[in-house]
Amino acid sequence: MTNIKTLRCAVVGVGRMGRHHARVYSQMDGVDFVGVVDQDETRRNDIVEEWGGKAFATVEELIGSDELPSVDAVTIATPTVYHLEVAEPLLERGIACLIEKPLAPTAEVAAAIAEAAEKGGAVLQVGHVVRYDPVMRAVASIENLKPRFIEMVRISPMTFRSVDVGVVLDMMIHDLDLLTMLTGQEPSDIRANAVSVMGEAEDMCNARLEFASEGDGLGCTANVTASRLGLKTERKLRIISEDSYVSADFVKKHVTLVRKIANEEQLFDLRTRLAAGEDLSSIDYVDLVEVEEPEVGDEDALTLQAKDFLHSVRTGKKPYVDAEAGSMAIRTAERIMETATAAGARLL
Ligand SMILES: NC(=O)c1ccc[n+]([C@@H]2O[C@H](COP(=O)([O-])OP(=O)(O)OC[C@H]3O[C@@H](n4cnc5c(N)ncnc54)[C@H](O)[C@@H]3O)[C@@H](O)[C@H]2O)c1
Repeated sequence: MTNIKTLRCAVVGVGRMGRHHARVYSQMDGVDFVGVVDQDETRRNDIVEEWGGKAFATVEELIGSDELPSVDAVTIATPTVYHLEVAEPLLERGIACLIEKPLAPTAEVAAAIAEAAEKGGAVLQVGHVVRYDPVMRAVASIENLKPRFIEMVRISPMTFRSVDVGVVLDMMIHDLDLLTMLTGQEPSDIRANAVSVMGEAEDMCNARLEFASEGDGLGCTANVTASRLGLKTERKLRIISEDSYVSADFVKKHVTLVRKIANEEQLFDLRTRLAAGEDLSSIDYVDLVEVEEPEVGDEDALTLQAKDFLHSVRTGKKPYVDAEAGSMAIRTAERIMETATAAGARLL
């Protein structure tokens, strides 16, 4: 790794997430880790002590001179409500930003961030890191997926963090982005319900999203559940596709695939025997089907995301999760919250 352009990188906001971004940059080839910005003095000093670079109190200090900014690319991991005020001066100066998910607290603010990036001609990527999770990469590499039904479950015990936003913007947003990735569109119809327990913001939500057909008249339905009041951690994705069934467990790091084509003979035999009126109740269906287990890598998703972001900075490649993708997830989240409010939940 000698002939890649060295980029000067920094992190703004080094709390729970930002400290991992700092570690990743400090250990990455082709990166000159400039340092971190955090309004908390002890925190910013602790992080540079661990991972190097300089500690800055403000973004302006980090940027230095307007004519010759001291950074090329910055990851922003402040609480979501500060994303715009932190990102704007960077993006408008043409400095690339990887902004943690969700891009903004509202679609309106997300549009203002996108506008700043456009004005400065800066690369903007949104940190929907689950797309880089090896489990999701294994799912995405399955050929010919045409989802008709998607089920997503994201359940965690209460951490008492990010309680400034509800579970839709905090957790479900990951799955809303995966739906953008899998369907390429925003839902045409939404039904949702939510429950608040700890405060005003919703802690549990279930949404049923309909995606319009794309020429074949079939479309796709997604059933998405998120809870931060679970008794265990569960991250599951199931896809019923026209030609296959996929089941992914992000906690166990495991993917199961059943292809129709791989089971064509068994299915033909069963159909024929059923049509002839044969009693098949003694057959063990699970023993009969051919199940594949696509390989799941062990790469670090945050590192893959940072590498891909910096590749866009170096080459001008469109970011994998661009401002439009980040905004789509927020628009859908807002529609879910509106629908759930209408259904009687006490939301913010
Ligand atoms: N990708 C994921 O899986 C994931 C997980 C958790 C959080 N997040 C996202 O990461 C972001 C940060 O969340 P967190 O849990 O790390 O928050 P946190 O509160 O632990 O850390 C935020 C840090 O930002 C600093 N800060 C706040 N305002 C600032 C400002 N204006 N300028 C400089 N520093 C500032 C705080 O002092 C703190 O150190 C949020 O957008 C959140 O949604 C993403």
